[in-house]
Amino acid sequence: MLNKDIKKVLISQEEIVSRCEELGKQISEDYGKNEQPPLLVALLRGSVPFLAELIKHIDLNIQYDFMDVTSYAGTKSTGDIRILKDLDTYIEGMDILLVEDIVDTGRTLEAVRTLLKNKGAKTVRIVTLLSKPSRREVEVQVEYTGFEVPDEFVVGYGMDYDQKYRGLPYIGVLKDEIYQ
Ligand code: IMP
Repeated sequence: MLNKDIKKVLISQEEIVSRCEELGKQISEDYGKNEQPPLLVALLRGSVPFLAELIKHIDLNIQYDFMDVTSYAGTKSTGDIRILKDLDTYIEGMDILLVEDIVDTGRTLEAVRTLLKNKGAKTVRIVTLLSKPSRREVEVQVEYTGFEVPDEFVVGYGMDYDQKYRGLPYIGVLKDEIYQ
């Protein structure tokens, strides 16, 4: 049943699952050639439902870990980030696949990618459920994208507005009155 605050559904649960199957297959093929399976690093909290679906379709012995980062207030343009929760895994020499809910300006991912490279990761690739290419401020290479979406604020499937709506099984747009 549609949540009463949702104006429209952009991407249904069925479409998300089917796209995760495709992404999982591609990732399995690409990393299957490597000596060791990748470590999936999911950025809290929005990427958790996507991670949970995606890993069901990756046919490799993957591990996963979590990071939580936030932008430094007032220095948004520099893309500096503060680590709220760091990885528990020692990543030197590892192939990392960063898992994100949505790439917007690209600043978060670019900063995290640099950070993981500096920690000695062998490779750092990115998989994101959604991308808003029209909002990009920094050039960030995204290897695997679920769906491109227009410049609209979206919620559901891990994404929130004021910490709400993360549990919706689809991606939708909120009614205008919710923002008032
Ligand atoms: P970036 O550094 O600007 O690419 O920030 C990406 C982060 O902003 C995502 O991980 C989300 O937490 C948040 N974000 C960007 N756009 C949306 C949206 O439409 N809905 C919910 N969260 C968003």
